[in-house]
Amino acid sequence: MMRGKFITFEGCEGVGKSRQIKLLEEYLVKEGIKYYLTREPGGTTISEKIRNIILDGANVAMSDECEALLYAAARVQLLKETLKGRLDAGELVICDRFVDSSFAYQGKARGLGYAFIEKINDYAIRNFTPDCTLFLDLSPEQAFMRKGGADKTDRLELSGLEFHKRVYEGYKELAEKYKDRIVAIDSSGTKEQTHAKIIAALKERGII
Ligand code: TMP
Repeated sequence: MMRGKFITFEGCEGVGKSRQIKLLEEYLVKEGIKYYLTREPGGTTISEKIRNIILDGANVAMSDECEALLYAAARVQLLKETLKGRLDAGELVICDRFVDSSFAYQGKARGLGYAFIEKINDYAIRNFTPDCTLFLDLSPEQAFMRKGGADKTDRLELSGLEFHKRVYEGYKELAEKYKDRIVAIDSSGTKEQTHAKIIAALKERGII
């Protein structure tokens, strides 16, 4: 059995990631292509519990290192409990965020550095490198405008625009560093235009 393809979606907050994943799902259903969709942090009961701890607005005392390790822990659980089996069974797996989020958010924006993130995510990086990462490329300023401001209950959103600008810079660096794997999808147009770019990118790489 050939291992299934692994696609991840990345990008700053409010870039229309959820909408694009929905559009991709509709396309795959229409084309009769089977897939499994999951998200990070989350996707398993344990990983969703870890997600709640990380995103809880009351956890202001959480250190950056603790946060990064919790993301890595949620990730390993998802991989071992669900994704490994599905990929081994030849399924197409789509994940809403993956280790690049840790590089951009914790490594770059929180300043922990890429080397630290690489080290604590060794298991994920060694065994589950995505075949294609779709980076929805839209500046945080544009993204924030679209979303209509921050959700005040979310600890991550409280960090503000400066933080999100650094996240964006991180993604740009990653897209440059991993040119073969990460496709920057210009997301400044309409949702239909962005969707068409995503389909084209996946077809070009023989993923769908
Ligand atoms: P979401 O809003 O796309 O569901 O993502 C939840 C938040 O988690 C988002 O602000 C990005 C953040 N995140 C990280 O900071 N590091 C990670 O490794 C992952 C997977 C998500």
